[in-house]
Order: sequence, then structure tokens, then C-alpha cells
Amino acid sequence: MKKPSFRGVKRWAIIFSIMLLASLLLAACGEPDHSILAPAGPVADRERSLFFFILGVATFIFVVVEAVLIYFIFRYRERPNSPAAMQIHGNNRVEIIWTVAPSIFLFAVLAYTVYTMVTLYPTNPSLEVRVVGHQWWWEFDYPNQHIVTADTLHIPAGAVVRADLFSDNVIHSFWIPAITGKTDVVPGHNNVMVFEADSNQAGKTFFGACAEYCGTQHAHMRFDVVVDPPDVFNTWISTQQQAAQAPTSGSLAAKGKQIFAQQCVGCHGIVGVNLTSYDDPKTKNLVGPNLTHFGSRGLIAGAVLTNTPDNLAKWLSDPQSVKPGNDMMVSLNQDQINALVAYLESLK
Ligand code: CUA
Repeated sequence: MKKPSFRGVKRWAIIFSIMLLASLLLAACGEPDHSILAPAGPVADRERSLFFFILGVATFIFVVVEAVLIYFIFRYRERPNSPAAMQIHGNNRVEIIWTVAPSIFLFAVLAYTVYTMVTLYPTNPSLEVRVVGHQWWWEFDYPNQHIVTADTLHIPAGAVVRADLFSDNVIHSFWIPAITGKTDVVPGHNNVMVFEADSNQAGKTFFGACAEYCGTQHAHMRFDVVVDPPDVFNTWISTQQQAAQAPTSGSLAAKGKQIFAQQCVGCHGIVGVNLTSYDDPKTKNLVGPNLTHFGSRGLIAGAVLTNTPDNLAKWLSDPQSVKPGNDMMVSLNQDQINALVAYLESLK
């Protein structure tokens, strides 16, 4: 009788192993500040631990079940003249083993998940931020410091931040992969999340995004999180608290300020132009971001562009071609655009 050949099996085993290895090596490739596997704070760190725990349990079960399966397929495959297989239906011992064993694994996963949920958030937040999801950009409001900004969230390194999440439209989801997991931002139901960037992350910038489909520009609803050393953060706060700088009279920026006051104040606010302060009641009627210190920001329009004079000019000349479906409708000529760019970029 011919001996069974395992050559084909060996080849497939090698190909499968290479695929598995490649998927492990290439998984989560990209910028480190985007990765849930490179946590920059205690919340993301605990979430990563839970991820690896569940991955470990699942991998163990997968390997054991597949190994037994493959062994049995070859060891007990049908050969010429082999007798009928043993019938084990109704074997109580086997039934008990394969009910109890998965229960133990599932209970371990449940226990570690509940433990992580209970211990996830750091206590005693020292900074409060109201995060507001708009169509499609993020507003960051620091109620105790009385400032409002957009697209870039500044936080001090090593401080516990409490974020109150609000939406005035549809459901969004607030996510900073390296710092904290996702929490839904639901209209009429204000969720809260607490997070912290480790002290040794000072000076770094992290990627943030909306993680719940919220319309055509969902993918362009991103933001940056800048982790400042505490003194830099305090300087940033006191700079932002100032009213907008007035341009030199007769300059291009001064002309831009005039155009802003005529064309843009229906949607946008600048403290010192159409707002008396960040808490001015008029802000309730403004749908666009507050631009008081626009020139100090790194991003434009929900991070669809980086903040450069060229990009701002592009945005002002045709916002719908840059980000189709957004709320900004303007019609400006080239002179007006040049003046507005000069003005807005001067607002450091
Ligand atoms: Cu907001 Cu997706």
C-alpha cells in the first residue's frame, strides 16, 4: 500500500506560516502617534492591555482547536478497509468538558473587561473641556479659562482632562487612538470621558478623529491633540484669552478685517471684532468656528487642510471643492481673499 504523502501539506503549512507572520509584522504599520498599540496615556494603556489579553486568549483557543482539528483530520482520515468511526453522541464526560472549558475562558475575558471598565478612567480631573461635534469639525471650549478654539485640542502633559461631549446635529464619536478609546457624541445625551497624556509625552502631537459615520465628510472630521508642557500650556491659555490683535491701519490685513466684518460674521466670531468675549451670547447663533486666534492653529476646516496662507486662500476661493457638502458658502474675489488671508493669518 502506498504511504500517504505530506509534501503538499508541508508546502501549505509554510505558505500559511509566512502569511501569518507577515500579517503580524505589517499590522498597525504607520505613524506611532496614530496607534492604539503605542499608548501615550494611562487610559489607552489599560485598553491596550485588555486588547492583548483577549487576543492572547483567542489565539490560544485558535491554536489548540486548529491543532487538534488538523491532527484528527490526518490521524483518523478514512483509509481503505477502515472500520466505522466510534460514535460518541451522548458522552457526558465530553459534553461537560466542552461546556466548562469555554466558560472558563469567557469568564476570564468578562472579568478582565469589567476590571478594565471600572479602573479605566483616572480620577480628579484638573482641566475641563467641552468638546462639540459639528458638521464636520470639532470645537474645543475651555469653560473655566473662557476660551474657544477648533481643530486642535491643547492639553497639558500629565494632567487629567475631563471632556464633556456635545453634538448639535448627528451622532459623532470622539477618538484619540494613542490617548483614549472612542466615546459616542450624542445629541441630547452628554457623555463624559476622562483621559491623560503621560508627562513624558510633552511636546508631541497626536492624531484624533471622528469614529462614527456622520455624513459625507466623516473622514475629514479629524483633529490634532497637542500635549504641552504645563508652562507652555498656561502661556497658550493666556494668549488665547486675549482679544484678537488689531491690524495696522491701512495694511492689507486691515482691509481683511473690514471684509470679515461685512461678509463672515453671520457664521464666525472674532473676539474684538463682532464678539465682546468668548462668552458673548451672540456665539450661540454662529455655526462656524471662532477665529479669534486662527493664525495660531495648525489645521483648517476639520483638518482637511494644514493652515498655510496658500491653503487658506484655496479654502476661501471654493470651500465646496475642498470639502464637498460643508456649511461654508462664500463668494469672494481674489483681492478679498488676499486681504482675508493676510488678516486671518495675522491672528496669532
Ligand atoms: Cu463626525 Cu464622523
